[in-house]
Amino acid sequence: MTERELVDLYIKFFEGKGHKRIPGASIIPENDSTILFTPAGMQPLVPYLLGEKHPQGKRLVDVQKCIRTGDIEEVGDATHLTFFRMLGNWSLGGYFKKEAIQWSWEFLTGEEWLGFDPERISVTVFAGEGDIPPDREAEAFWLEAGVPPERIYSLGMKDNWWGPTGATGPCGPDTEMFFDTGAEPCGENCIPGCSCGKYFEVWNDVFMEYRKTEAASFEPLSQKNVDTGMGVERTVAMLGGHKTVYEIGVLKPLIARIRELTASSDPGRSEKVLADHIRSATHILGDDLGVVPSNVDQGYVLRRLIRLAIRHGMKLEIQDGFLTDLASIVIEIEGEDYPELKRNSSTIIDELEREEKLFGETLVAGMKQFNKMLPNLLKNPQKIIAGRLAFKLYDTYGFPVELTADLAVEHGLTVDMDGYNKAFDKHRQLSKQGADKKFKGGLADNSEMVTKLHTATHLLHAALRKVLGETVQQKGSNITAERLRFDFLFAEKMTQEQKDEVEALVNSAINDKIAVEMKEMSPDEAEKLGALGFFKDKYGDVVKVYSIGEYSTEICGGPHVGNTSELVRFKLVSEKSSSRGVRRIKAVVE
Ligand code: ALA
Repeated sequence: MTERELVDLYIKFFEGKGHKRIPGASIIPENDSTILFTPAGMQPLVPYLLGEKHPQGKRLVDVQKCIRTGDIEEVGDATHLTFFRMLGNWSLGGYFKKEAIQWSWEFLTGEEWLGFDPERISVTVFAGEGDIPPDREAEAFWLEAGVPPERIYSLGMKDNWWGPTGATGPCGPDTEMFFDTGAEPCGENCIPGCSCGKYFEVWNDVFMEYRKTEAASFEPLSQKNVDTGMGVERTVAMLGGHKTVYEIGVLKPLIARIRELTASSDPGRSEKVLADHIRSATHILGDDLGVVPSNVDQGYVLRRLIRLAIRHGMKLEIQDGFLTDLASIVIEIEGEDYPELKRNSSTIIDELEREEKLFGETLVAGMKQFNKMLPNLLKNPQKIIAGRLAFKLYDTYGFPVELTADLAVEHGLTVDMDGYNKAFDKHRQLSKQGADKKFKGGLADNSEMVTKLHTATHLLHAALRKVLGETVQQKGSNITAERLRFDFLFAEKMTQEQKDEVEALVNSAINDKIAVEMKEMSPDEAEKLGALGFFKDKYGDVVKVYSIGEYSTEICGGPHVGNTSELVRFKLVSEKSSSRGVRRIKAVVE
């Protein structure tokens, strides 16, 4: 079965159970500052999991492109990928554990569906932890479905709990389904969840009935939801009897091309990491809300992925220019399902070329610095390069520690790797603290301030189009409890007069005390109404249109304030370039 066949079958199955297909969202979250990338199908649905009404109803199904870099070190094993696709079915306050489990079992084992051998499926359920009781219901429904007790395992929060993806948000116990590859157990404790490769997790049903609060406690949600996730690549690999995900889909031709390019007879893990990272980088650059490499936020993650890809290419002794060669394969093959890759192909190729050149320069600068340090280093009687120096080379010049170690060996020196790792961890802890602080709040909290800023964003967007012209288009939006951030297509720096005018327009909409109205309609009707909306291929057949009097009409999921007067006063804080041809405004309301 191909990936597309699996996606179609899954959608068909759940449509048959009354679900509405919704389009997948961008991998760059919109209006949500709690995370950098969409890590799961549930992320774009957070407002609806928290109780907002979804225009397509209570039963939804989709396939979502996801980026996860949390377990990047594990990429190169049989299953971990930084980019992957996730199938999901949702119940937003509708059906719960019974149906979710019955349908998962039917789809996995039914002859006309995936037809997995039922005897090779094991499941895990939540064992209970803290104040949250064990999930006896899930266990009972599995027994009812026919899974014998010896293949139902109870595990704690570390294994059987999902969310929240930010510091706060919807979460709950889950039940996971594993396929037994038939390999020998790696030891006595080898049970589903063990990472040795015997058990492949193919699906996760989350019972989202809690919300983690700022006080780190769990409160019941106003509605009980089901959030599920089936990894497309993993499941297709298992159905085809493959040992790793690199034997299916676009990953297969990527590996084949890398093997053609490499002079190395032992490509090992590097070929897999290279294939995975170039695929992720291509999708991040090629998303309609795509970002370019930089030193902050998503741009930084993207830069790391590209540089790691180059490093692994170097290990494989591949010559320059291979990034664009490999990216073209991703654009061609995955562009069939993700047309944005084709639309944005010149950005993808240009940015990869630029980054490769820049990294080349970084390596030269780092090498120079190393040579400058060398006479002193050679004086060290133990012939050891202190970890803190190796870290400085990495942190200041972007010079990877493996290269420092290689150069060290050439001069009869070694790097104190423990010291390096300590310096690295300390740095990471500090930046994580910074990031946690930064990502506090956000739409996932559904807080009042975020809602106000969301309405302000619509007014700002409309005002910009009035003042700067209709070429202005939203490129991205990010809202925290402190401020809004709005990226838009516009080639020039705004003048002070233009900024004043925009601010005045938004404030006049606030002073006019206008009611914010929402109507549901088809995307065509919305277009006839002149509603703004630039992500056409992302809409389902019913959309919500928010209107603010004469000022703004825009397709949007919400939530918004009831009346503009709630915003009190709008202030533009800054306006600067975000990337080529894109301006970025930060603004606040009182
Ligand atoms: N949100 C759940 C996951 O990603 C389904 O595993």
